[in-house]
Amino acid sequence: MKYPEGSIVRHATITRINHWITALCFVLLMLSGLAMFHPLLFWLSNLFGGGQWMRAVHPWIGVVLLFSYAGLIVQFWRDNLWTADDTAWSLSIGRVALNEEEGVPEVGRFNAGQKFVFWGMALLIPVLFLTGLVIWEVYFGALTPIPVQRIAVLLHSLCAITAILIWVVHVYAALWIRGSMHAMTQGWVTPGWAWRHHRKWFRGLAAAGSRGPVPEAGRHATPARKEP
Ligand code: HEM
Repeated sequence: MKYPEGSIVRHATITRINHWITALCFVLLMLSGLAMFHPLLFWLSNLFGGGQWMRAVHPWIGVVLLFSYAGLIVQFWRDNLWTADDTAWSLSIGRVALNEEEGVPEVGRFNAGQKFVFWGMALLIPVLFLTGLVIWEVYFGALTPIPVQRIAVLLHSLCAITAILIWVVHVYAALWIRGSMHAMTQGWVTPGWAWRHHRKWFRGLAAAGSRGPVPEAGRHATPARKEP
């Protein structure tokens, strides 16, 4: 994929495809899950060709989500490791919300909020998968007693609600930070965007003469400008 001259690569094509497969699976699981959660929302099953189709397809989409998210974990875990700067950034969240830059630590490739989303989903998706297996009647129904399945349903619902809340925050932040959606659809950002939102990451790329997404990947690429 060709990126504009002078731009910084934020997410490689394969990463973006992986992300949007994850997003599609999540939305489909949310819609079908909500339809099964409450009779008032059962009308959503029409999107899947009726209740039976929806019930059959929901767990399989869950399997795809598990593998798809595993792909994101492999690509993103290093850049999501928690640092002292993230604690300081979280403590200055009031300033961040007011778009103030004074007193807010410089941010690496991902900020503390993004790291929270990343690790939150990394915990919830496997729990959703395992509890989902227990209640996947057609294949595993006979393997566990009813009381265990009841606990699994409860845990599955609680994790799903938490994951949906985290997803809402994620989408809100993606729309709130101008240029963020562009990063995940086109793959590149301007040096100004990187400087403003992820200055530590930008400095790292500039020092390595890389245009991203990580310093190692850009060894043979056009060097990023040192200053915006
Ligand atoms: C369907 C709606 C979604 C939208 C509009 C959306 C949007 C975005 C955008 C714009 C970014 C790039 C942020 C940046 O480069 O700074 C991003 C990153 C990311 N998204 Fe999503 N996303 C969606 C769904 C999901 C879901 C369902 C998951 C996980 C289950 C997810 C996991 C991630 C992860 C792990 C990153 C990388 C940032 C990090 O590691 O924290 N996204 N998303």
